[in-house]
Amino acid sequence: MTDKDYVVKTVDVHKTYPNGIKALNGVSLNVIYGEVLVIIGASGSGKSTFLRTLNRLEEIDSGSIEVLGTDINCKGSKLTKLRAEIGMVFQHFNLFPHLSVMENITIGQIKVKKIDKQTAIETANDLLKKVGIYDKAAAYPEQLSGGQQQRVAIARALAMKPKLMLFDEVTSALDPEMVGEVLDVMEKVAKEGMTMVVVTHEMDFAKKAADRIAFMDKGRITEIATPEEILTNENNSHLRQFLNKIH
Ligand SMILES: Nc1ncnc2c1ncn2[C@@H]1O[C@H](COP(=O)(O)OP(=O)(O)O)[C@@H](O)[C@H]1O
Ligand SMILES: [Mg+2]
Repeated sequence: MTDKDYVVKTVDVHKTYPNGIKALNGVSLNVIYGEVLVIIGASGSGKSTFLRTLNRLEEIDSGSIEVLGTDINCKGSKLTKLRAEIGMVFQHFNLFPHLSVMENITIGQIKVKKIDKQTAIETANDLLKKVGIYDKAAAYPEQLSGGQQQRVAIARALAMKPKLMLFDEVTSALDPEMVGEVLDVMEKVAKEGMTMVVVTHEMDFAKKAADRIAFMDKGRITEIATPEEILTNENNSHLRQFLNKIH
């Protein structure tokens, strides 16, 4: 395995917020091409902070992060280019409320990637079919259910043709009956070979889709292994407690 095989390579990453909270306390982690890595862990363990450092929405204090072969501390146009290759979907959908579904999915392609409008629309239509809401192209976000909005958010991220997708608890704000439809889309994307880092508590999804699961505990990854190994781990008492609590 050489560095070229890694989409994400982090070494001993530390991050303390200005209020003194140490959110990351030495995170070293590699993700290879096509891998689906699920991150689990109690609230406050640093999962979101870690995900956000991967496209430098959050600065780190020490350690190093390479994404797609580029040091995340790079400057200017290099950072802009790198960010365009990383798709991120959040718990709250962050769609543009004043734009239609179609416009939400084409605006980045047109403005950031300089793709012509017709091609952008074709890409958007393909993605709307993939996420199962082809008939909603003209709708506005407020006219959609939470599950539909989240599927638009995923389609919007995919429209940029990212090489890495980050998902931060994208189903945790949804009504229970809508969780499945969003996880199904994520599973589909995973099966197509996308490299994904997914923070979720949905263990059935993790079992099906994850190549590895990482357990975060107080700013560190204390276990990282196959789903089966994580789910049957009896040695890590914090992991055991966490798994018992969410079941
Ligand atoms: N912007 C921030 N400023 C200060 N503290 C923060 C900030 N964001 C998160 N934290 C704190 O850092 C720790 C890790 O948070 P977070 O990464 O959101 O964890 P998780 O996603 O696992 O719930 C928590 O103690 C949280 O309160
Ligand atoms: Mg979080």
